[in-house]
Amino acid sequence: MATKKPAKKKPVKETKTKSTKKNPKKEMATVFIMGKAHEVPAEATIMGAIEYSGYQIIRGAGCREGFCGACATVYRLPDDYKIYTGLACTTLIEDGMWLSQLPAIPAQRPVYDIKKLEANVATFQKLYPEVFRCLACNTCTKACPQDLEVMDYIQAAIRGDIEKVMDISFDCLSCGMCAIRCPAEIVQYNVGLLARRLYGKYLAKESKQLKKRIKEIKEHKYDKEYQELKSMKTEDLKKKYYERNLE
Ligand code: SF4
Ligand code: SF4
Ligand code: FES
Repeated sequence: MATKKPAKKKPVKETKTKSTKKNPKKEMATVFIMGKAHEVPAEATIMGAIEYSGYQIIRGAGCREGFCGACATVYRLPDDYKIYTGLACTTLIEDGMWLSQLPAIPAQRPVYDIKKLEANVATFQKLYPEVFRCLACNTCTKACPQDLEVMDYIQAAIRGDIEKVMDISFDCLSCGMCAIRCPAEIVQYNVGLLARRLYGKYLAKESKQLKKRIKEIKEHKYDKEYQELKSMKTEDLKKKYYERNLE
């Protein structure tokens, strides 16, 4: 399962995606959840370890496959001063890991009407002036579990290059881990979202294919297929999803 998962294609710089336990034969490992030690299977993901320890995750879990960004987690490792960031559903535990989940991250998010905005740098200046305080420290890039070049898209926003921001930030999950590490207190993922909206509204070429598909939907061409999907069992639906043709 999950062979088509886009996240975690490769290990990222500040996120441990592979176990580096000193004893690979050890079947159990100790992790600290909210400061309390728990013995958990050594090959568990962070999310698996939390649930194995008896906690029910009510907030901080969604897709469980690296897509939704709901499971932001910070952790430290023994004898290592660094704070690491990762998605709980795709990051493997390590012996001695201290972890905390961040199910919701407070973020600056101005309200705007996209129809009243212009696709230029002045819009970023007005809505997210803190972007121009970016120190180019690259901490956000190191924190990103999607391995996105976060600093590069913030720099593109400063230049007013909306297409570049859209392009680089396209796979952002809005997990928030870049924002919690940013010394300039920028909320990078909302800046990326604004750029993608501006691009879609003002800069993207009109898609004839999309227009055609919307027309077909309005004419109820796919109603029968929708009903079939809605009546399927979850497992069958998952199978169908993973077996779909990707263009
Ligand atoms: S850019 Fe920020 S919010 Fe988006 S996936 Fe990367 S760390 Fe998460
Ligand atoms: S962490 Fe903040 S200040 Fe540093 S490069 Fe990223 S956006 Fe700029
Ligand atoms: S639960 Fe969706 S990314 Fe982890």
